Parts: sequence; structure tokens; C-alpha cells
Amino acid sequence: MMIPIILSGGSGSRLWPLSRGMFPKQFLSLCNKETMLQSTLQRMVGIPDLDSPTVVCNEEHRFIVAEQLREIKIAPSAIILEPAGRNTAPAVAVAALAALQKEDDPLLLVLAADHVIQDIAAFQNAITQARDLASNGALVTFGIVPTHPETGYGYIELGRPVDRTAVGMLINRFVEKPNLALAQQYVNSGSYLWNSGMFLFKASAVLAELATHAPDILLASKLAMESATVDHDFLRLDAEAFTACRTESIDHAVMEKTANAVVLPLQAGWSDVGSWDALWEVSKHDAAGNVLHGDVISEASHNCYLYSNEGRLLAVHGVDDLIVVNTEDAVLVTRRGQSQNVKNIVEVLKLSA
Ligand code: GDD
Ligand code: MG
Repeated sequence: MMIPIILSGGSGSRLWPLSRGMFPKQFLSLCNKETMLQSTLQRMVGIPDLDSPTVVCNEEHRFIVAEQLREIKIAPSAIILEPAGRNTAPAVAVAALAALQKEDDPLLLVLAADHVIQDIAAFQNAITQARDLASNGALVTFGIVPTHPETGYGYIELGRPVDRTAVGMLINRFVEKPNLALAQQYVNSGSYLWNSGMFLFKASAVLAELATHAPDILLASKLAMESATVDHDFLRLDAEAFTACRTESIDHAVMEKTANAVVLPLQAGWSDVGSWDALWEVSKHDAAGNVLHGDVISEASHNCYLYSNEGRLLAVHGVDDLIVVNTEDAVLVTRRGQSQNVKNIVEVLKLSA
């Protein structure tokens, strides 16, 4: 069997002021009627031998997650609650430990809750292809053919094919969020893919790699699971043990270090809607290239992202390449191409809070 593990504990700070600590982007409807979490779950419908999903999120968001699953009639196998985010390595570790309590070494399909995928058939097909590789012990990551020098993603340098028949490729190295010049070199070279942050591996395989490369994270996760409490679908990790854990991504803790990583190329109209720029890319544009959302008027303006969600009219005239996001208590104005830096504003706000 295969258990979907949905990582839903990010803060989405680059989509401020819409994405907030109490209500981050994975719980918002940014591109569809459904929220990003709901779309993540619904795009798996139809994959054979799939178990009910496990969602790993911050305990503050437990009712949002439970309600959003209920709305789309998906019953979780568990909603694992973190007292505080420690990035994705501990989240994957506790999910793997919880999965082993339920089943004899299931495959774990680890998915981020904040992705857009246009071609669902291609996505499901890649998972089917990855299954054999993962069943044989590989840690499979899905790699996206890059379309531009995005600095918000990790890059994977391709090695040789796993074997003559398989679709998977070995990995020379990972580079997390390179600068623009390097990203451009990687895209030009044709030998790099974007790290999608979606993985397929056996629970035992990822735990063995954690034991080798990040034993402290595995130990803290085990302690947090041993003293966890269960309340209906909620599995509440022991707060003291889990918060004592180091903050680390699964990319750094395992994928960059393991000798068993394999990448499967995926072309499925994928995007991590990580920034206003990314959202502009994946949204519908008018004839002048503007994306308009809510109570918005644009005149003589081009290629802007304009959002107003509080019934206050937002009007722009004679501007190009602007991002303007108008919410009840904050307005963001920035330039397209720069929206990765919005997280700096959030840092400043945190410091002044
Ligand atoms: N449960 C839990 N706890 N989930 C988390 C935590 C945490 O502490 N931190 C992040 N997540 C979730 C996010 O909600 C998201 O779904 C996923 O894990 C990835 O985290 P992001 O914070 O969105 O990472 P990123 O986008 O900066 O970078 C990662 O994803 C990119 C592609 O989307 C990296 O893997 C990059 O290499 C990759 O290109
Ligand atoms: Mg992301």
C-alpha cells in the first residue's frame, strides 16, 4: 500500500499579506475553487492501492485541516500535530514512524500542500512509474524540467540513468535555492531539474537514511511519537521532545546525502505557488497580461498582478509589472520579479511585533 503524507506546516511567508501565520497559503483558494490542500488531496483520486492520507501540520491549524478534509469528504488516517514547525525532516520522520505502526513497511508518497499541477494524468503516471523504483529501496524524487531560472527552488543535477530500461536517473547533487546567475547556468546546461519536493520511498528506507545522516532528528521524532497522545484523528506529538528537535528540511537531512536517491523527470505543468510571481505565472491573464482578482480595475497597465479581497476597489493606471495586494489591514506593492523578497517584510514585521 501507499500512504500519502501531506506536509502542511509551512508559513507561506512569500505570499504575505494574504498568507498569514494563522492562515497560511496551503489553506487558501489561490488558483481554484478548492484550497491548495484540498487540490493536493483530490489530484490523487484514482491512484490504485492508495491508503487514506496523513496530514502533518501545526497544531494551531488542526481545525482548519479537519474542516477542509471534511468538506471534500476525505477521511484522514491521521492528522499529526506539531507543537512548532521544525521543517520537513522531522515531519517526514514522525509520519514514517506513524505509518509503520499501522502497516508493514508501506510506501510513503510525500507531497507538499502548496503545489499546482495542471496535468493530473501525467502526475499520476509518474507515481505509477516511481512505484517499482521505491519498492526496490530507492528514495525517489520527482524532478521538474525547468522553464526559467527560478531562485525559489532547489536544483538536481542529473547523473546517469538507473539502468537501460528504467525511467529514473541517478543524482549527482542537489543545490538548494541557488542565486540567479547559477540558476541561469543550470537551466542553460540542460542537465538540471527542479526539485519538486515530492518524494516516494518506503517508510523503512527513509528511516534508515535518517538513522545514518540525521540520527538526532530520528531520535527526537521517536521520543515525540512515544509520548504522543491520540484524540480522534489528531495525533498530538509530545511538545517537549518535538520542539527540542533541530530544524532541518528532508532535502538537506536525507536527499542531499543518501546514495539511494533517484530522480524521475516529470512534465505536468507543476508550480510551487511560492510567490506572487509564481501565482501570476499560473493564473489567467487578460489581454494586457494582467491577473485581476476581486474588486480591481486596470487601465493602460500591463503584466500586473492585482488582488483586492475586501470589497475595496483597487484601481491602477499606467503601470507595468506591478504586484498590488490589497487586504483588510495591509497593502503590498512590489515589482514582478522581486516578490521572493516579500519574506523579508515578514521578517521585519516579526522583529517589530
Ligand atoms: N508539517 C510541516 N512542518 N510541513 C512543513 C514544515 C514544517 O515545519 N515546513 C514546511 N512544510 C511544508 C510546506 O507547507 C510545504 O507544503 C512543504 O513542506 C515544502 O515547504 P516550503 O517551505 O514550501 O519549502 P520551499 O518551497 O521553500 O522549498 C522546498 O520545496 C521546493 C518546491 O516546492 C524545497 O524542497 C525546494 O528544493 C523545492 O524546490
Ligand atoms: Mg514551497
